[in-house]
Amino acid sequence: MSNYHIKHLEEYYQVYRKSIREPENFWEEVAEEHFLWYKKWENVLSWDFSKPKVKWFEGAKLNITVNCIDRHLTTNGNKTAILFEPNDPNEAAEHITYRELHRRVCQFANVLKDKGVEKGDRVCIYLPMIPELAIATLACARIGAVHSVVFAGFSSTALATRINDSSCKMVITSDGSFRGSKTIDLKGIVDEALNDCDCVESVLVVKRINSSINMVDGRDEWLEPLLEEAYEDCVPEIMDAEDPLFILYTSGSTGMPKGMVHTTAGYMIYTAYTFKNVFQYKQGDIYWCTADIGWITGHSYIVYGPLANGATTVMFEGVPSYPDFGRFWDIVEKHKINQFYTAPTAIRALAKEGLELVEKYDLSSLKVLGSVGEPINEEAWHWYNDNIGKKQSPIVDTWWQTETGGIMITPIPFATPTKPTYATLPFPGIQPALMDEEGNELTENQVSGRLCIKFPWPSMARTIWGNHQRYKDTYFTAFENKYFTGDGALRDEVGYYRITGRVDDVIIVSGHNLGTAPIEDAINEHPAVAESAIVGFPHDIKGNALYGYVILKDVGEGRVHDNLRKEINQIITEHVGPIAKLDKIQFTKGLPKTRSGKIMRRILRKIACKDTKNLGDTSTLLNPEVVQEIIDNSL
Ligand code: WTA
Repeated sequence: MSNYHIKHLEEYYQVYRKSIREPENFWEEVAEEHFLWYKKWENVLSWDFSKPKVKWFEGAKLNITVNCIDRHLTTNGNKTAILFEPNDPNEAAEHITYRELHRRVCQFANVLKDKGVEKGDRVCIYLPMIPELAIATLACARIGAVHSVVFAGFSSTALATRINDSSCKMVITSDGSFRGSKTIDLKGIVDEALNDCDCVESVLVVKRINSSINMVDGRDEWLEPLLEEAYEDCVPEIMDAEDPLFILYTSGSTGMPKGMVHTTAGYMIYTAYTFKNVFQYKQGDIYWCTADIGWITGHSYIVYGPLANGATTVMFEGVPSYPDFGRFWDIVEKHKINQFYTAPTAIRALAKEGLELVEKYDLSSLKVLGSVGEPINEEAWHWYNDNIGKKQSPIVDTWWQTETGGIMITPIPFATPTKPTYATLPFPGIQPALMDEEGNELTENQVSGRLCIKFPWPSMARTIWGNHQRYKDTYFTAFENKYFTGDGALRDEVGYYRITGRVDDVIIVSGHNLGTAPIEDAINEHPAVAESAIVGFPHDIKGNALYGYVILKDVGEGRVHDNLRKEINQIITEHVGPIAKLDKIQFTKGLPKTRSGKIMRRILRKIACKDTKNLGDTSTLLNPEVVQEIIDNSL
């Protein structure tokens, strides 16, 4: 079907118009022609944003791993599915063919079954970027268990919260992980987390760093011996289109992370179709997304999207700075990468290191470059375009979210002319709207507003695990009958979108979403802290860094502020993880509050950004006098 692979701008517009005019026919055609079904659907779409309820391909039966693995076996069994590049450049890369992936996923799935994991059970996966991470997620999907991958940089408290929220029965982890020149004791973190998790019955441990670790009798088992015993085939569980495939947690503006629930058929179709078009993937290409599978980018565009297309997808265990800042380019040369997808924060960090480490390597295999996770600033865009793409490889600035499951606004390379800092045009099937604060849609061009989506798309999250009301409140109440993204955006004179950033209390640091509330909660645990407020301020590499305003309890003058700062960051590391550490901590006597007691972060944000000329009206505050004090002592 021609619609499946868009090749020029004219075709994009044709496909887009069709996808809006007759969305059900459009998605039905994609689903019909490109996937394997045990049974076709009775109804393509039913939806009601006021509930909110969205169902795609109801009545259909499938297994996503059959579509991602089994159906490639006859034509592409010997093709590399996963190309694993280890942390240590001297360790050999591993090429896992589709046939081998099939065997390893089946064996893993059989181990899960033996351990009592059943369809619908939740399994927490806390692993570094090693092949077992992808294999474990697919093994869950094979038997219909719901995977909940937790990024292996999260602390034990954050891990425990996520395990408990969805009552995971099992945790899959490793004896540790390599990260540049360091190793991290992942199993130790899991042990600590499990002190607070009664739901977990068993822990499977992958051997990666060969450290001697504590194994709890009756609970913990090494994976390898079990795999060796396991049968090499596993009949896939037959799943309903709307059965949950996975839960993935994302930060919200209140304390608890939100367990976004993604379902099977719609997610599969949308990630596959976007992968094909956004990266213009052709058979034989080697595709590399540098994200971690612990984030949605890794779920959709390292695992499911690429494998559904029979692609070769690279998994990199290490970090961009090890053994030096040329590592990414070394890998591009070594594996002749054709599509390279990374985050603006990585681009900025690498740009800072100069060109010597870029020019050493042959990057001529590159055809398409991608960016995701936060707005890419103009300077980084040009550096990427000039030095990595040599002005030959289009940059796809892809806007999307954990909640959207797949890429929503993006150029189609070689079709959509790119424009620095613009995510450009909606992907087929996506109907964006910009809204003013009164809730009116701004229909003309050259406007800015809050970004909403007016119509369902197949890969949208269906609910928040255990809290449908919160799903409704967060995404479907700000604007009637629309999904609200939490982002602001502008539309230029030709209809291109530029995402301007979050308009809520989520701050994006190095491409990671951080809610202010959990960090403030952590700080407030410190015995000397009375209250705190966090805001973001611009940072050269991280995009945003965190600025904390902290009110101390009356502890006398004895406390040394520098020690307190260290202790506060220590608490944050323990409760949330090192990514949430504060760059600046200002101690203050008060915080600006509205009469209803709400902290006016807008004012704090401006002070942190050193933009104090235009603070707006502060006279309505409960305590306007505190503002000057904060300005005078700002860092
Ligand atoms: C931001 C990541 C500008 C945005 C896939 C969004 C972006 C949040 C872009 C979701 C982009 C992501 N340009 N901003 N190309 N991509 N964002 O859930 O604020 O980790 O709401 O999903 O990242 O982050 P999440």
